Amino acid sequence: MEGLKHFPEPLRESARLVSKTRDSRLAALRRGESYPPLSLSDRRAWLEEFHPDYRADSCRPLAIGPNKGDLVPCELADLLESWPRPAVMRHFALSRRHLAGNDPNHAVGSPTAKQGKADLQCDVLIIGGGGAGTTAAIAAAEAGAQVLIVTKLRHGDSNTIMAEGGMQVADQEADSPVQHYLDTMGGGHFINDPELVEALVSDGPRVLRWLEELGMLFDKYPTGRMKVRHGGGTSRRRLHASGDVTGLELMRVLRDHAETFANITVLPFHPAVELLTDDNGRAVGAVLEHLAAGDRLPTIQVVHARSVVLATGGFGRLHFKKFPTSNHFGALADGLVLAYRSGVPLRDLRYCQYHPTGIVYPERKIGLLLTEKFRGWGAQLLNYHGEEFVFGLEPRDVTSAAIIRECSEMGNGVSTPSGRVGVWLDIPLIDLLHGRGTIEREFPGRFQEFMSKGIDLRLSPVLTYPTLHYQNGGIAIQNDGGTDMPGLFAAGEVTGGVHGDNRLMGNALLEILVFGLRAGRSAARFAHSTGAGSNPGVSHLESFMEALQESAVGHQRISPRLLPSYGKSGLPA
Ligand code: FUM
Repeated sequence: MEGLKHFPEPLRESARLVSKTRDSRLAALRRGESYPPLSLSDRRAWLEEFHPDYRADSCRPLAIGPNKGDLVPCELADLLESWPRPAVMRHFALSRRHLAGNDPNHAVGSPTAKQGKADLQCDVLIIGGGGAGTTAAIAAAEAGAQVLIVTKLRHGDSNTIMAEGGMQVADQEADSPVQHYLDTMGGGHFINDPELVEALVSDGPRVLRWLEELGMLFDKYPTGRMKVRHGGGTSRRRLHASGDVTGLELMRVLRDHAETFANITVLPFHPAVELLTDDNGRAVGAVLEHLAAGDRLPTIQVVHARSVVLATGGFGRLHFKKFPTSNHFGALADGLVLAYRSGVPLRDLRYCQYHPTGIVYPERKIGLLLTEKFRGWGAQLLNYHGEEFVFGLEPRDVTSAAIIRECSEMGNGVSTPSGRVGVWLDIPLIDLLHGRGTIEREFPGRFQEFMSKGIDLRLSPVLTYPTLHYQNGGIAIQNDGGTDMPGLFAAGEVTGGVHGDNRLMGNALLEILVFGLRAGRSAARFAHSTGAGSNPGVSHLESFMEALQESAVGHQRISPRLLPSYGKSGLPA
């Protein structure tokens, strides 16, 4: 059959079955028949049995810190219960007493040893240069603050630019923020913070207008009306997109706009490795490590600020349970580590998000996303035999559990020569349903990328499997972006509360804008209302290190990890 030659057997054999069943599936769709959604009790049962986060060995309780006793993924718990980086220890004359055999000569040093010395100063320090950080910077700069953005990689390198399918905003006649609120709460299993969700959905229409004013190109009909689609778990069509490169387009306008402000400075390749606090327990800056310092440049830089916004994004590159990820290279939970060891509480980290359709084959694209928008346009999930086994627009956690069930318990997955397994996403169906040219027009990014490798998405299904995609929880915030620490604000994926246990598609891009703006404004207001911190230092590390030392955890570990390390294959070990 045409377009399937790039598959090795036995993938090709199964792909042929997909082509064979396509006509009858299409006819059923045209009759208005679709695979029935699961009942609530089946959803719960499948989640508990098949979703990776519900496995007993996926989590462990935290042994120290403000969330002591809470269950979080083991890999994250290890990172939260780790020692500061060696460069920080040296700079602040800290030592690990326990490693020196409790030698009294190796007592913990004075964490305020370098107090008063700043390499850089600003009103508002923004840690993270993705969508949330850049939005916060714009809001703080508009409020008159002198802003410094420090970012681990280049300005814009973030999960924002990886976002494909769109942003939810209730701006259509048949929709309302109330409907958006109910969908979001339901998707999150009703443990979301209601006030945060209210802020998210009510600011949405205003944020959409702002983006249009900045020049963001949304998909529209020739009349100028926005094109909107369904995402999983939504009761109304409210996904606004820029093809399948929505996050890239969003970051383009945010970065361009940030550059028009004379009072925003960006410092790339300088990840924050600790927060600075003062005598009153206020956040007053950060310690940075220069990624490319080499021999001649100082490794550590100290920034003093009047307020701080943490916007470091998520944790996909921790590859929980060895899952591949859709996340960008720097997504390693740095912000959670910094906040947690400063005593700031986290929330809702027990469950993370596995996106149902990460690429399985070709393997060099392992884990990267095939946007949910494909299913929004009618692409179906199919097993080895070319049969549907789940309604494609269940909430993400349910769809992922269904795929894992189909491949494990039902034995209907498609195995690759290297031993991976997956199910098909039948993309060619989209052109048959909506007319030739739809795939090229609506999914230009992935269409061209696959075409350049000789794979025509108009003819070939793609093998997919759940991929680690999103950190549902994080730093606990109030609806102005404030945290439990005075002077510390947070926005975007690093925070928790908006999405409960399971985020709906398209709520991440909206969140970074709504809470980026709120956190940036609040941080500027705070900076204007306060003086410089007294004795900026890392004294908060003292109690954290004492607790680490007394507990049996984390003796050899160091965090934040900053960058992932991969074996020769380039795939997670
Ligand atoms: O499927 C997607 O395009 C992902 C979007 C999201 O996570 O919001």
